[in-house]
Amino acid sequence: MPTVLQLTDVSVVRDGSPVVDSVSWTVDSDERWVVLGPNGAGKTTILQIAAAQTHPSSGSAEILGEDLGKSDLFDLRPRIGFASTTLARRIPPKETVLDVVLTAAYSVTGRWNEEYENVDVRRAQRVLDEWKLGHLADRTFGGLSDGEQKRVQIARSVMTDPELLLLDEPAASLDLGAREELLRMLGGYASSKGSPAIIMVTHHVEEIPQGFTHALLLAQGRIVASGPLDEVVTGTALSDTFGLDLAVTESDGRFTARAH
Ligand SMILES: Nc1ncnc2c1ncn2[C@@H]1O[C@H](COP(=O)(O)OP(=O)(O)OP(=O)(O)O)[C@@H](O)[C@H]1O
Ligand SMILES: [Mg+2]
Repeated sequence: MPTVLQLTDVSVVRDGSPVVDSVSWTVDSDERWVVLGPNGAGKTTILQIAAAQTHPSSGSAEILGEDLGKSDLFDLRPRIGFASTTLARRIPPKETVLDVVLTAAYSVTGRWNEEYENVDVRRAQRVLDEWKLGHLADRTFGGLSDGEQKRVQIARSVMTDPELLLLDEPAASLDLGAREELLRMLGGYASSKGSPAIIMVTHHVEEIPQGFTHALLLAQGRIVASGPLDEVVTGTALSDTFGLDLAVTESDGRFTARAH
């Protein structure tokens, strides 16, 4: 399987301190990773490197076969889907749901004429339908519920058919019903034919969708454990990561953690 992300001894220094510290990590195209770790562990920073938004202070990053330091970011970024709260804050609240998803295509095609308009509009509508948002296409983004906004962000990030999909806490702030619906949709998407490699950051093992394959555990910028889900999402490794005594149970591909 081709490698979509290869970090080799990557460190990121902020204000004189390493916030990512000697991380080496490989993600292949048929893998779907969850990244877990306490606040400030460096999860978002690593995702920003994978999104070609941040450069390492040292070490090397290869994304979709391109060396991050040497390639044209404007060619690379459209091949990567990225959804995060920081990006969502930049969406004008008055923008329609259809436009939020549709504008993801501009950065790829970089042009706008009748022919592309029709193709892109049809694709945006299809993506909205897939994420059960078709009936909201004409509503404004700012008027949606948190759960609907999260789904729109994901729909936008998959609009360009990315080769690598990055999701930073997609289920944060959702109520139980909205969380479960999102996880079901993410699990279905992850398991569908032709789905890209996915890296999803979360705070909760309960938010690992079915169909995910691997986990990276981070604490203080360093890797605590990485590998297949069932080997890594264990009481021992999570206890080391979060610094408290945790027990983990798994049932039907879903995980639960609680303190002893
Ligand atoms: N521009 C910056 N200047 C200084 N410190 C920064 C900067 N950006 C990030 N940091 C620090 O880097 C560390 C890692 O941040 P990061 O956002 O990657 O953590 P995280 O694991 O995503 O945390 P959270 O779970 O809270 O989202 C934090 O201690 C943060 O304060
Ligand atoms: Mg973060």
